Amino acid sequence: MKYDISITKTTTPKEKPTDESKLGFGTIFTDHMFMMDYSAGKGWYNARIIPFGPIAIHPASTVLHYGAEIFEGLKAYRAADGTIRMFRPMENIQRLNRSAERLCLPELDEEGALDILNTMVELEKDWVPHSEGTSLYIRPFMYGNDPHLGVHAVKEATFVVICSPVGAYYPEGLNPVKIAIEAHDVRAVRGGTGYAKCGGNYAASLRAGEKAEKKGYTQVLWLDGVEQKYIEEVGAMNVMFKIGGKIVTPALDSGSILPGITRKSCLELLQDWGFEVEERKISVDELFAAAASGALEEAWGTGTAAVVSPIGQLYYQDTSYTLCGGKIGQTAQKLYDNLTGIQWGKLADTHGWSHIVCNG
Ligand code: PLP
Ligand code: COI
Repeated sequence: MKYDISITKTTTPKEKPTDESKLGFGTIFTDHMFMMDYSAGKGWYNARIIPFGPIAIHPASTVLHYGAEIFEGLKAYRAADGTIRMFRPMENIQRLNRSAERLCLPELDEEGALDILNTMVELEKDWVPHSEGTSLYIRPFMYGNDPHLGVHAVKEATFVVICSPVGAYYPEGLNPVKIAIEAHDVRAVRGGTGYAKCGGNYAASLRAGEKAEKKGYTQVLWLDGVEQKYIEEVGAMNVMFKIGGKIVTPALDSGSILPGITRKSCLELLQDWGFEVEERKISVDELFAAAASGALEEAWGTGTAAVVSPIGQLYYQDTSYTLCGGKIGQTAQKLYDNLTGIQWGKLADTHGWSHIVCNG
């Protein structure tokens, strides 16, 4: 079911960035945004694309007091054949609905949500950057909007989509990042919201992130919230290790790890290439023992923003290991080349992951 979208175009279009090497991540926004409101009993209404700008919000709004917010992140690419494509958008829509269910926010019609993304990307297609390594980052988000202070499941909500032309998420680009394993704070616990993409998970992670940054590390690697023993994920990406030739990645069944779409895609590629893949618990002790013995060959993170990001150094308590001589490993490089090759339409998309939106 498609939503009936009205379009009001801006009368003052912005200059598009001319130097695409300086895009960075999430600081420049396109000319328009999508908005749609929800009210219990009425459903979703007033689907509209309007000029990008500030959002008015009631001071008692649920999101401001109780953090009722979920979001997604996906990208549109300018492919080699001139088309504009999104990568596995239905996966993001389905994850958004799973997050909505966890936070008691209203779900979206899947086909309707895909039509919203298509409409936004087509309208903003001139904002999809051209240079290698760049894309249009699409950030759908939803927040609870009840104008009173009672703590209840929301009855009013707003769904918004904004878009931002981006380059690499980390200033390091494809160079290895330094990651600190957090020994004190936890991000998520069993039964909590770890598997959902909600703003509160990120708010709770900021203190450890700041501490790690001050020590010269790019991001935090979280341990499980119960025993603080098992590896979970990095601040904005899932994590994979190559140990003794096998690929090992934390299993998702704890419910405290975000089920990444890049993770899923990389595991499918690795299996295609004949790697043995183990989705299981991996303790920090096992990881460091593998690092000490030399069995830990490579580590990398996966995420929409981060793509495939090699980990060059791992720190935990007072020990630090340099991995792969601080250089990008072969497997991480192959994953990056193949995944981006499919996204940019340079390699055959045998899995049917690319969703063509329009001609560029
Ligand atoms: N884990 C966290 C906490 C994230 O923020 C992200 C980014 O979205 C990921 C994992 C990777 O998920 P995906 O590959 O779907 O972008
Ligand atoms: C993404 O990769 O899309 C994310 O959401 C990570 C982020 C929090 C910047």
